[in-house]
Amino acid sequence: MNDIKLTEMAFEARKASYAPYSGYRVGAALLCEDGSVISGCNVENSSYGLCNCAERTAVFCAVSEGKRRFKAIAIAGGTEEGDTVTGYAFPCGACRQVLREFCDPSTFKIIVARSIDDRKEFTLEGLLPSSFGPDNLS
Ligand code: THU
Repeated sequence: MNDIKLTEMAFEARKASYAPYSGYRVGAALLCEDGSVISGCNVENSSYGLCNCAERTAVFCAVSEGKRRFKAIAIAGGTEEGDTVTGYAFPCGACRQVLREFCDPSTFKIIVARSIDDRKEFTLEGLLPSSFGPDNLS
């Protein structure tokens, strides 16, 4: 699995997005340590506070399938049709914290993409510095 393929999978996942209220459709592709990829999209609700982000959909789906260690995530989001969007869809604070539960902050890679070829890459630590995690409770 490489960054390009993972990004393609994020754009593919975006096609399933249910975002009738914001029109902001997001797809995420989560690379698990076993090499498998679990996809997720945002799922909105007429009771707005219940909207779920694409990243958390992917993480919760993966954990439900028994996968708890992850290497990378690619995210693609925007209001446009197709596989090019005008902005990078950075993960929200809640999603960063959910990723922190299962990922090594210094090595977990977060790819945000405007198209398959237009990508930026960060570590989880870079986007969530001085974080609180499971180790703080032991
Ligand atoms: N959204 C995501 O899917 N991921 C994020 O990290 C930020 C926001 C979704 C939630 C909502 O359906 C829409 O984008 C607008 O906020």
